[in-house]
Amino acid sequence: MDKFVPQSELIEKVESGFHSHFGRPATHYVASPGRLNVIGEHVDYAGGYVLPAAIERWIVAAFRANEDGVVRIWDVKFEDKAEFDPNAPLKAEPKSWLNYPKGVFAQFQKIGWEIPGFDICMFSNVPTGGGLSSSAALEALFATVVEELNGKKLDKMEKALLCQKAEHEYAGVPCGIMDQAAVILSEKDCLLQLNCKDLTIETVPFTNPEIGLLIIDSNVHHELVDGEYEKRRNDCEQAASELGVELLCDATVEQVNAFEFSNSRVRRRALHVVNEIQRNKQMEVCLQNQDYAKAGKLIQQSHNSLQYRFEVSCPELDFIAGLCNSLNGVYGARMMGGGFGGSVIAMIEMDQADEIAATVESRYKEQFDINAAVFLTRPAQGVTCETF
Ligand code: GLA
Repeated sequence: MDKFVPQSELIEKVESGFHSHFGRPATHYVASPGRLNVIGEHVDYAGGYVLPAAIERWIVAAFRANEDGVVRIWDVKFEDKAEFDPNAPLKAEPKSWLNYPKGVFAQFQKIGWEIPGFDICMFSNVPTGGGLSSSAALEALFATVVEELNGKKLDKMEKALLCQKAEHEYAGVPCGIMDQAAVILSEKDCLLQLNCKDLTIETVPFTNPEIGLLIIDSNVHHELVDGEYEKRRNDCEQAASELGVELLCDATVEQVNAFEFSNSRVRRRALHVVNEIQRNKQMEVCLQNQDYAKAGKLIQQSHNSLQYRFEVSCPELDFIAGLCNSLNGVYGARMMGGGFGGSVIAMIEMDQADEIAATVESRYKEQFDINAAVFLTRPAQGVTCETF
């Protein structure tokens, strides 16, 4: 299992990386986390409920305003650098990570904000392509830097919506709001019960020290850009329009069960969404009652539905989730995020964590000859920014 790395250690890395690269000390640092999601997968763009939280993995950066009006980025991990004028017209480039900062700056340009020049040194321990929203973390990081340098802040949900737009327009992924909201609005030790239709939020405390959330990154990496995500979204829109509702969240399970859809694929997609929304609501009750056995069942049902009805899983995720669900100490495990690779989340008994992790690592390696990255996390704080 991967060792927990405290945020402070990552910040020291970018602080010294900044100093040696830019030749003077940074003034601020920002820490932007990845996210998990306990239940409510592929329902955000259908207006459903999701239950995400920030994780204890971050993209961190040290930064400082400069006098040159340009943005200079130094990524210590990938030894990659970039320099550009953030107030000039910014074009998206195919498959470049710079689309995230550029997309964010372009949205600030649209709402009339000036983007001061700055130097920034970054480092990340959020796995990329791991279904843990490293892209939303990057968007939130740059949005936070722009706020700090302007000395004013957007409303947090407006900021999440701005980052979502950046993702739509510059990364070409028509994502829902879950990732950006989780990365920006999460609170330590809480899950975020987010209604993706009216964007209201409730926090659900998650503090029982005996219950752990284990993340298993399959190291099989998905590309949501390749169109499968959009196809699922389109199927949901078609289902809603056949049902005569604005969004699928407006239909009930009974309505969908009884309805004759134009084809069986659209029916399966709709069944996933309405049942997943129901599971999400049941989960909230389970967590309040500390009924982890029932919570685990809901998580397992979610995986089955994502595998067979929504068809966004893959053999590696099915193997990991299936294996976890057969182990002692696991309440429930399922694939998490957009799918087609990425991570599995398992709700477990904390005192079994090491054994579960070791079993999954070795059996997965045996089966696919791939190393999984396994780590535990508690629900963490959303993006933060401080002065040194
Ligand atoms: C990706 C998207 C989210 C959400 C999930 C699936 O992470 O960015 O908006 O749709 O997939 O739940």
